[in-house]
Amino acid sequence: MARVAIVGAGSVGLLVGAALLQRDDHEVLFCARSHFTRIRVPTADPPIDRQVEVQTDPRAVDLPADWVVLATKAHQSAGARGWLDALCGPTSRLVVTQGGIEQAERGRTAAPFGTAVVPAVISCAAERTGPGCVEHNPVEPVKLVVPEGVEAEDLAECFAGTIATVEATGQWATEAWRKLAFDAVTSGLCTITGRRPDVLAHPGVAGCVTALLDELLAVAAASGAALDEAFRRSLLDRIGTIPGGVAPTMLQDRLASRPTEHDAIHGAVVRAADRAGLDVPLHRFLFTLLDASGER
Ligand SMILES: NC(=O)c1ccc[n+]([C@@H]2O[C@H](COP(=O)([O-])OP(=O)(O)OC[C@H]3O[C@@H](n4cnc5c(N)ncnc54)[C@H](OP(=O)(O)O)[C@@H]3O)[C@@H](O)[C@H]2O)c1
Repeated sequence: MARVAIVGAGSVGLLVGAALLQRDDHEVLFCARSHFTRIRVPTADPPIDRQVEVQTDPRAVDLPADWVVLATKAHQSAGARGWLDALCGPTSRLVVTQGGIEQAERGRTAAPFGTAVVPAVISCAAERTGPGCVEHNPVEPVKLVVPEGVEAEDLAECFAGTIATVEATGQWATEAWRKLAFDAVTSGLCTITGRRPDVLAHPGVAGCVTALLDELLAVAAASGAALDEAFRRSLLDRIGTIPGGVAPTMLQDRLASRPTEHDAIHGAVVRAADRAGLDVPLHRFLFTLLDASGER
């Protein structure tokens, strides 16, 4: 039995929380900005629909939790600090399930000093469709990849018997860069052009995809990730099969005038390149345009 707090009841937070609730022995608290009373995952097998505990004010929390899952968007981490102060005690562990490659740094910055932080690469295709309600495309099973070690073993036990699996890896950098590569060569181009992924088939844009990928792979290699030529080819093939009409989250956020995760995705590539002493003019250009065009 574990006490788990989910900070951010959006697509990922609801799905992760719903998975944990499949185990009747966990206490799960959702920490949200607005109240809801039930969680529903109609696409789960069997569908999940049950009453849940929700808090909207960190001052009302009297845990510490055993596990805290930070499931806000990356740029919302600082805003979640009040929750982490309230939820993280000396033995709490913070799992950061956000995009990008800097989950550990963001977690350490937002959580009380000394909190054990577990960065996670989460795979799922989740979309919140209403308060407490999330749809999940079962084609992409819910999987958290975390660095191997005792935290990974304990987290895997926490999710045992649920729709989510936990995989421990000794190659976390590779896993994180693998996911980042897809996001960093597709999302920004869609967002800056204001177009859905069909734009990636435009001959000039397709050339940008390849050039962005090649810049990124050099930085990934310098950062300790092992992404080979087979990965490069399979990623380009995969990009060629993305449904043309489904807007990536970054574009959806831009179209709705919400802040985007461009810093966690594109800024992260530029920062890693700077650390490695590599030049990434295309990523720097794209990041600069995304950053400037998102200012209001
Ligand atoms: N969706 C996916 O399939 C998927 C897959 C892999 C990785 N990811 C990554 O997972 C992260 C979350 O994505 P998402 O799609 O779940 O985003 P999302 O649906 O926008 O969920 C974020 C949630 O965090 C809440 N939040 C923000 N600040 C908060 C605060 N101070 N206190 C409490 N709650 C707060 C938001 O509340 P409001 O509802 O009030 O805005 C929202 O419900 C991102 O980094 C994304 O890149 C997503």
